[in-house]
Amino acid sequence: MAILVTGGAGYIGSHTCIELLKAGEEIVVLDNFYNSKPAAVELISEISGKDFKFYHADMCDQEAVDDIFEENDIEAVIHFAGYKAVAESVREPLMYYRNNLTGTFCILEAMKKHGCKKIIFSSSATVYGIPEKVPVDETFPLSAINPYGNTKLIIEDMLRDVCNADKDFSAALLRYFNPIGAHESGKIGEDPNGIPNNLMPIIINVCTGKQEKLTVFGNDYPTPDGTCIRDYIHVVDLALGHLAALRSVREKKGAIPYNLGTGNGYSVLDIINTFERVNNIKIPYVIGDRRPGDAAECYSVPDKAARELGWKAERGLEQMCRDAWNFVQHNK
Ligand code: UD1
Repeated sequence: MAILVTGGAGYIGSHTCIELLKAGEEIVVLDNFYNSKPAAVELISEISGKDFKFYHADMCDQEAVDDIFEENDIEAVIHFAGYKAVAESVREPLMYYRNNLTGTFCILEAMKKHGCKKIIFSSSATVYGIPEKVPVDETFPLSAINPYGNTKLIIEDMLRDVCNADKDFSAALLRYFNPIGAHESGKIGEDPNGIPNNLMPIIINVCTGKQEKLTVFGNDYPTPDGTCIRDYIHVVDLALGHLAALRSVREKKGAIPYNLGTGNGYSVLDIINTFERVNNIKIPYVIGDRRPGDAAECYSVPDKAARELGWKAERGLEQMCRDAWNFVQHNK
């Protein structure tokens, strides 16, 4: 039996595919390369030393998704595929609702038709909106402050409803904090198509001269250095969280949310300083205005995942910064 990985050529998806293959799982990958590149598929095989079936298809194409379930014995789905740029989702809400929701419908319809009842969903800490306090645990109130975040919330609700309707169904709702870093081989990492929106890809662009400088979004927040605090997590730790979640959906039923974070909060200036120090490079930056919709602080209580999944992030901030830059050095 195989695990279907949607969006498996993407940043978190590709790192997870490697860990799944290394653990001896059989995988089938679907990706439309909207925000990823075909080379990632080859690199997953190269790094893991294992082959797998790949489908260049769109998750919104019900027929294509059904064919994958016809042609393979799918035990569980790890569902990464989706649009994820917050600002774009504000400009083009329908595009986000159509893609993220329709794609998930197609996957769930095919799962239903083929009796597949286990899913791991890429949710996000964005489902906590602007948290009233930190650290954030899974019982905090949920809200959406942009269409992207709302698609994550709606899909979590859909999965809760599916699990309520069928007591044999299991769904792990993995609420990621801020994944950064890259595989230690330097062969795969974050390589977004187009202009990046997130802090680490922007730092990389500044260091490689693709962008002139970084703008720090505000230094007047009520935090020790005035810049926003986030819970940055190494992408390989995050990938390993999916293996732990896979063991869980094989044993437990129902829709269960888990924070995947380290529990440590670092400010934007912490990231800049650590990146500069471990990689011996200068990041030109200026302080700019606050970005609308940014929480001053957002970091996790990761205890539930430790307790129930037996998973804990192990890689520290220095390694995250080193590995992110190592990936760039390998791909010049
Ligand atoms: C963002 C999204 C979140 C999404 C996540 C993953 C927003 C408000 N939130 O999280 O919904 O799940 O990405 O895609 O967009 N920063 C700068 N300068 C920059 C870029 C970022 O100072 O040029 C700061 C931000 O203010 C923030 C931190 O860096 O404090 C991290 O930003 P980012 O990487 O965009 O992640 P989030 O905002 O936490």
